[in-house]
Amino acid sequence: MRVLVTGGAGFIGSHTVVALLEAGHEPVVVDNLSNARRSVLARIGEITGHHPEFHNADVRDRDAMKSVASAGFDACIHFAALKAVGESVEKPLLYYDNNVGGTISLLEVLIAADITTFVFSSSATVYGDPTILPVTEEMPIGVATNPYGWTKIMMEQVLRDVQDANPEWSVSLLRYFNPVGAHPSGLLGEDPLGTPNNLMPYVARVADGQLPRLRVFGGDYPTPDGTGVRDYIHVVDLAEGHVAALGTHSGDAGVHTYNLGTGQGSSVLEVVKSYENVSGKTIPYEVVERREGDVAANWADVTRAKSVLGWKTSRDLAEMCADSWRWQQGSR
Ligand code: UFG
Repeated sequence: MRVLVTGGAGFIGSHTVVALLEAGHEPVVVDNLSNARRSVLARIGEITGHHPEFHNADVRDRDAMKSVASAGFDACIHFAALKAVGESVEKPLLYYDNNVGGTISLLEVLIAADITTFVFSSSATVYGDPTILPVTEEMPIGVATNPYGWTKIMMEQVLRDVQDANPEWSVSLLRYFNPVGAHPSGLLGEDPLGTPNNLMPYVARVADGQLPRLRVFGGDYPTPDGTGVRDYIHVVDLAEGHVAALGTHSGDAGVHTYNLGTGQGSSVLEVVKSYENVSGKTIPYEVVERREGDVAANWADVTRAKSVLGWKTSRDLAEMCADSWRWQQGSR
């Protein structure tokens, strides 16, 4: 399949482009490089032996997107979006414009070009603070605690409505839990600008001596060790989930919603311990106040993805930490 991949130079996008190439598809990358490097394209080439076509464009640029889309595609996977929770609180309009506005603009272009299979980068954040764990896809959408989360909820709704109005459309909503790790080659990974907000990139920099200590946000949650529990998923497993969704639902009219996670929760302290084991470094930490907007625990019921997509994760927390550490050491 010829697949238009927006945000294909970013963290999850680049790993998905690799997985698509390895599965014999033909991805074409569109990225405005606002949070990605051009060198990622060469690295994808190094890993796969294929150099995907690349367009430096913003999804909100209708003319540019029309021109790219006119070449003809079987499907679109839409990753391009902003994702920093704190920044979204400070600059809500930037987030609504980029994420929601960008998606609307892209959908108009795809409808005009008759590209009707769409895979969307959604998030477990749409569940809000889940009352029952693990969360299933049937659980009602929750209340977001920040504008970033609202953009994911809104974009899902836009897509359900667009599918309703265009019944031939196939829309897959992939709700990611906590994507971490890096490509085992050490060539692709997450490269946050400034101080990382997310746990694993932060731990990586502490292990590397770039940051003095981890602040563990909250030690009094109702979890086994009192720290927050999340369903961390290796980015390569996540990337393969996209290929599985595309394979199952290409041309398959309807809205198809999946949790992509391992189905297992790990606490902050379990992540720290695993990272210490694989890196051989000590990770100093202090337990501080809870971070506003955080939930105690969130992990996925992945039954549907297993049974319908025939997809499941195969990489455990130790492998996520080991690949993150390899990337961290190479990216200095
Ligand atoms: N944590 C720390 N210290 C840190 C960073 C994180 O203790 O320096 C803890 C958090 O409190 C949480 C866990 O590590 O318990 C994971 O935090 P992350 O920031 O890595 O991930 P989140 O679960 O908060 O974030 C995820 C997605 C976001 C999404 C958010 C919604 O990565 O895209 O859920 O809550 F917006």
